[in-house]
Amino acid sequence: MKYEMTSSTFGPSEKEVMLNVINSDTFTMGKHVKEFECRFANYFGRKYAVMVNSGSSANLIATASLFYRGENSLTKGDEIIVPCISWATTFYPLFQYGLRLKFVDIDLDTLNYDIDELKKAVSPETKMIVAVSVLGNPCNFDEITKICDENNIILFEDNCESMGAKFKDVYTGTFGLIGTFSTFFSHHISTMEGGVIVIDDFEIYSLCKSLRNHGWTRGQEKGSVVYQEKEDDFFEAYRFILPGYNVRPLELQGAIGKVQLDKLNNFLKIRRENAKHFVELFKNDPRFIIQKEVGASSWFCFTMIVAPRSGIERKKALKVLSDAEIEHRIITGGNFLRQDVIKYFNYQVTKSVNADIAHDNGFFVGNHPVDIRNKIDYLYENLKNI
Ligand SMILES: Cc1ncc(COP(=O)(O)O)c(C=O)c1O
Repeated sequence: MKYEMTSSTFGPSEKEVMLNVINSDTFTMGKHVKEFECRFANYFGRKYAVMVNSGSSANLIATASLFYRGENSLTKGDEIIVPCISWATTFYPLFQYGLRLKFVDIDLDTLNYDIDELKKAVSPETKMIVAVSVLGNPCNFDEITKICDENNIILFEDNCESMGAKFKDVYTGTFGLIGTFSTFFSHHISTMEGGVIVIDDFEIYSLCKSLRNHGWTRGQEKGSVVYQEKEDDFFEAYRFILPGYNVRPLELQGAIGKVQLDKLNNFLKIRRENAKHFVELFKNDPRFIIQKEVGASSWFCFTMIVAPRSGIERKKALKVLSDAEIEHRIITGGNFLRQDVIKYFNYQVTKSVNADIAHDNGFFVGNHPVDIRNKIDYLYENLKNI
């Protein structure tokens, strides 16, 4: 048996809508993207959604928008708190915009912020906290929103790994001022490549729409608060107001997104059924620390950390997995402070003990939106005797 990391969720409906777009001869951002954005915003209970070409671009545009808002904007050199474990492109836009990163350790059970360490890291200079719910598992947003409210700190959620997860019945990605999602191939829904920003704030929404589209005014809603329309139509057609990008999505992505969003509830249900089986098999296994669910995880993948005092070497476990054709990876890139690229960053770190343990002893295997309980059994059988 082979236990893959990911599998395609595209069926006849995705292929049909793709063909319709191809036959329509209209490819760049248009009505399908707009409809997808409306449905996405509705699903997650936010006023606005802005689709872009990837989750990484969503982080870039969201970060940029906070620099150009009228009040309480970010400025170069501001202190931003980030977790030691997240995907590289959580950090890149922050670095590229000249922000000062302060890395905080994670909790070994949940793999999200260690809340005590987070509290200790907050300083009068902290302007924003980036919360990342790792691999589907919600952060403790009671604690994080309290810290932000009490200290007048902006909450930014990189929710690219956790679409559909809930903390106390509220979707992750909607706790912060701004939230980002990925719709990359292997994620909870797929538009091949893709990303979405969700917000309630009309100014930030208007900024994001312009920033994804050359910093142009085209596509701004009536009453946009980020520029004043002038009389001269000729000049208005090519009017640029922000140093933006072109990270627009395609109509293909919008059209597929609508089909996939309709499937999301079922995808989540199946992912959770698989997870129940995984947890049942491994929860009392002292050799491994598995991710402790906070709220309702959307179970992107299944993490396992070889318990430090188990006497087992991760190398041995990984060899067993490789021999059995069970695909596996380091947990979300491991401790980001140990990636080569960190040499370019201006950063501080309070502590990274647990991130190092996850880096040195951890791995994850895939979860899929189809029943893979037999593959989880296969994983269990293979790991039984190490
Ligand atoms: C936490 C996090 N942020 C951002 C991204 C980037 O998303 P994308 O691959 O769509 O660019 C990922 C990708 O998985 C991620 O895990």
